Amino acid sequence: MACKGNLLVCTPLECETVEEVLSSMEKARAEGADLVELRMDTMSFPHISEVEKLLKQRTMPVIVSFRLKSSKTSSKGNCNNTCLQVLRLAIELDAEFVEMEHEVATDVNMTKYMDRRSNSKIIVSSYVHNGDLSEEKLSCLIACMQSTGADIVKLVIDVVYITDLAPVFHMLTHCQVPLIASAVGDRGLISQLLAPKFGGFLVHGSLGSKLVPGMPTLVSLQQVYKIEHLNADTKVFGVVSNPVGHSKGPLLHNPAFRHTGYNGIYVPLLVDDIKEFFSVYSSSDFAGFSVGIPHKEAAVGCCDEVHPLAKSIGAVNTIVRRPDGKLVGYNTDCEASITAIEDALRERGVAKGEASHNSPIAGKMFVLVGAGGAGRALAFGAKSRGAQVVIFNRHYERAKALAVAVSGEALPYECLSSFCPQNGMILANSSAVGMEPNSDQSPISKEALRAYELVFDAVYTPRNTKLLKEAEEAGAIVVSGVEMFIRQALGQFKLFTDGLGTHPSLN
Ligand SMILES: NC(=O)c1ccc[n+]([C@@H]2O[C@H](COP(=O)([O-])OP(=O)(O)OC[C@H]3O[C@@H](n4cnc5c(N)ncnc54)[C@H](OP(=O)(O)O)[C@@H]3O)[C@@H](O)[C@H]2O)c1
Repeated sequence: MACKGNLLVCTPLECETVEEVLSSMEKARAEGADLVELRMDTMSFPHISEVEKLLKQRTMPVIVSFRLKSSKTSSKGNCNNTCLQVLRLAIELDAEFVEMEHEVATDVNMTKYMDRRSNSKIIVSSYVHNGDLSEEKLSCLIACMQSTGADIVKLVIDVVYITDLAPVFHMLTHCQVPLIASAVGDRGLISQLLAPKFGGFLVHGSLGSKLVPGMPTLVSLQQVYKIEHLNADTKVFGVVSNPVGHSKGPLLHNPAFRHTGYNGIYVPLLVDDIKEFFSVYSSSDFAGFSVGIPHKEAAVGCCDEVHPLAKSIGAVNTIVRRPDGKLVGYNTDCEASITAIEDALRERGVAKGEASHNSPIAGKMFVLVGAGGAGRALAFGAKSRGAQVVIFNRHYERAKALAVAVSGEALPYECLSSFCPQNGMILANSSAVGMEPNSDQSPISKEALRAYELVFDAVYTPRNTKLLKEAEEAGAIVVSGVEMFIRQALGQFKLFTDGLGTHPSLN
């Protein structure tokens, strides 16, 4: 049996027939699973002999589990009997792991079978409600479960906020008995991704492209996160955002860590309250963060020190924890977005023989849609290059405040499509309009795009937004948000890795 520090990867199977289970086992093995969980309560077996047949024919190690609440068996009495029958048979047939709920493990009809086990390891599981997520309560629960004779304890956790997981990570690190933590829902995803670092016994991954909230796919565990390389010293980085599912950060930063030999992992962090997040995850394990929608402005107030550029923009998209524990905020969005636009204009300018050392944005009318974190970075960047900035934002007051900060002009959002004081303008969308799942939307009418020489869209999911497609049809130079994304991520990666240990004081 694997012990603490020798992590297993498991995929739960919910199949109807023995044949289906056997073919899923082959897929699971190919995708990197060490074992599969056979959820017997979800299967319809006409007779217990089918369970015996399945266990005898299994082609890889299994966890045989039976959850009383989700069982297909009709009455509670029948369900209890079927559960006991299935689990006892699994013990008799030496299934590698037999998983039972805490109440089943304390049933006298089960305890005597548990005592007779020879090779099977017993996993005792319990559902933990949000209100019971304190280190004290978890310690008591784990001790109680261990006293049933469990070899391994499993907590199935109801996570409301990502911060609910902090005591769970503490238990994973300090618990003496092998522990599995499985948090339910999107906010629980890091319970799987970070389990290898904190000493979890087992990680769950879903099979194929099946999306299960809170569960990474087996393929991403193997290819993106490479969890077999993680250990207690691994530094945690991540993108603090809501929503966060669209972020391509993990696809970029994780391979970059491996390429440079840096012991880090970069994970999606679905955060509701950024202040609370930083007050809870304050240890040096959590070393650096990208900040996404809608937290960039609030992030300024979470930092101990803020780089002057980020301070003047009023938005932080990168936070690094210095060795003294202080959080330092930076903005890599500004240079990333402006240089992406400049390079595209220069490329066109060079083609036309107009090469110049000045910024090709200088003197141009720069029409900005959106006045959130990304919008502020673009507005300050455009102003720094000598452009004339005009801002349209859904909530006018926000546009007005940004216009004052960059000596620009704010106009009502409804006037965007009729705004046409000149031709050859630059349009930059920094609003979330057009972002998945609303990819059929654009902030401006197609006809109005004829007035623009270049159209940039900060939205990068999808890569080719409706705005960019229509701008191209209108004859404009188009610059995708992917260009900005890669540049800002490169800037972040340097801050995450270069200066660790040497980040100078900004004061
Ligand atoms: N390519 C990259 O590297 C990169 C980097 C940063 C951001 N982004 C993208 O840029 C977008 C904004 O990000 P952010 O960090 O600036 O977020 P943010 O601070 O939350 O700002 C969101 C902006 O979108 C506007 N908005 C949201 N829903 C809208 C709607 N239905 N109609 C009109 N306007 C709407 C908001 O207007 P109100 O002020 O009126 O609410 C605000 O201006 C996101 O799509 C993000 O993915 C891309």
